[in-house]
Amino acid sequence: MKRTEILVPEAELARQREICRALAARNAARPTRPLALVDTYGCQQNEADSERIRGMLREMGYDFTADEREADVIVINTCAIREHAEMRVLGNVGALTHTKRAKPDQVICLCGCAMQEPSRAEQIRRSFRHVDLVFGTHVLWKFPELLARVLEGGGRVFETPESDGKIAEGLPVVRSGPLKAWVSIMYGCNNFCTYCIVPYVRGRERSRDPERIVQEVRELAAAGYKDITLLGQNVNSYGKDLGLDIDFADLLRMVNDVPGDFLIRFMTSHPKDASQKLFETMAACEKVAPQLHLPVQSGNDRVLRAMNRHYDRAAYLDEVRRLRALVPEIVLTSDIIVGFPGETAEEFEDTLSLLEEVRYDALFTFIFSPRPGTPAAKMPDPMPKEEKNRNFQRLVELQNRISAEKHAAYVGRTLRVLVDGRNDDGRHTLTARTDGGRLVHLDGPEAAIGTWQRAEITGASTWALFGRLV
Ligand code: SAH
Ligand code: SF4
Ligand code: F3S
Repeated sequence: MKRTEILVPEAELARQREICRALAARNAARPTRPLALVDTYGCQQNEADSERIRGMLREMGYDFTADEREADVIVINTCAIREHAEMRVLGNVGALTHTKRAKPDQVICLCGCAMQEPSRAEQIRRSFRHVDLVFGTHVLWKFPELLARVLEGGGRVFETPESDGKIAEGLPVVRSGPLKAWVSIMYGCNNFCTYCIVPYVRGRERSRDPERIVQEVRELAAAGYKDITLLGQNVNSYGKDLGLDIDFADLLRMVNDVPGDFLIRFMTSHPKDASQKLFETMAACEKVAPQLHLPVQSGNDRVLRAMNRHYDRAAYLDEVRRLRALVPEIVLTSDIIVGFPGETAEEFEDTLSLLEEVRYDALFTFIFSPRPGTPAAKMPDPMPKEEKNRNFQRLVELQNRISAEKHAAYVGRTLRVLVDGRNDDGRHTLTARTDGGRLVHLDGPEAAIGTWQRAEITGASTWALFGRLV
């Protein structure tokens, strides 16, 4: 597809801005500013989308609240990755019937990945009559127009078109803090891992123009942001659709060259596309954090093939070895799916042994959840739920031991950390992050928040490090 066809036309976006201005004028005439609440489920891409939704709401004249009883507009940004995630959203949406009864002019909006599933949107239409607006992932930028239609008495609005996806540049954002920022570098996914719903609800891979990304990072750095995360479902395939001869490693270098005092993180990296060039670039770029989330999903080759992951155990372990040779202090994390259809007891043991070999700093573990419409949902899945739960427990216990050991090795070291907030654990005053992204509970003055400091690590647990400023 040509680049011009990938971008939402500027005239369309200008029309949305016009609608925002008209709504803002109307809202300004009210005795008090109306309030909005945006609730986000799912991954960082959804967090980033919610920041854009808040941006549009602010342009429409809304302030924000965390109290659903006083919100004039509620937006729930949904996730479809596992059944549990969807059920949790539906439960919370159901509970909003009460707030709406107490405040009948409240507008309830649902968006995000679960709404891009036709059956889910249909369920909302039929069974959740208090929901006023449903919009899919491909029309996020149209939110002002859709909300205006509801507010003007247009009845319930459902807008969930199927699409390969486009890119809407220049949407306003309200970022959730002054230190950490998400920067989407690409949208969608082409990988069709057999268990995964994301390619169906997020469309095809499309990369933003590198100059736009660099410009956004330049603005963030100038505004004092210190921890910038580049986002995509598979950042390692960045640029393949651009026709510019720029890949993700090149983009990292361009971002690294932006003047300023900030760290660059990125996620997620698919192992099938993690190149030697990427590892060399990570080693060479001083602003790129020594951290990599490299989801392996399983340690068994048959399961990896059935998942359509396009790498095997040996290739993955080789990548980890090459990366560690170049970036010895790398903090490595992964995702694991337990109980993929047909996974046997022996195949699961391969995942445990891979964990012992790699020794991740931390792990995100999931029990397989069949997603309607994906190939894995139709695969025979004979392992009883109890056995999957037991395997899951064993995996978590093994990783907890490894995480605790890895954290214990920090004790006695003095490291650079970014102090990122007040601590509410009752025992320490501050929280901070190492360059590798590990959480540190610290004692120190509040004035240190937002600054780089040196911290001596004096203790460690499975989940975090403890220390003091030096
Ligand atoms: N694009 C990222 C992952 C996005 S989803 C990547 O490729 O790594 C985050 C994680 O959720 C996945 O890595 C996988 O471990 C898990 N996941 C996805 N679909 C799942 C399903 N149907 N059941 C259980 N876990 C799932
Ligand atoms: Fe899902 Fe695989 Fe795409 Fe990740 S790479 S979003 S797991 S299909
Ligand atoms: Fe969920 Fe969509 Fe992210 S399904 S994990 S919010 S891309």
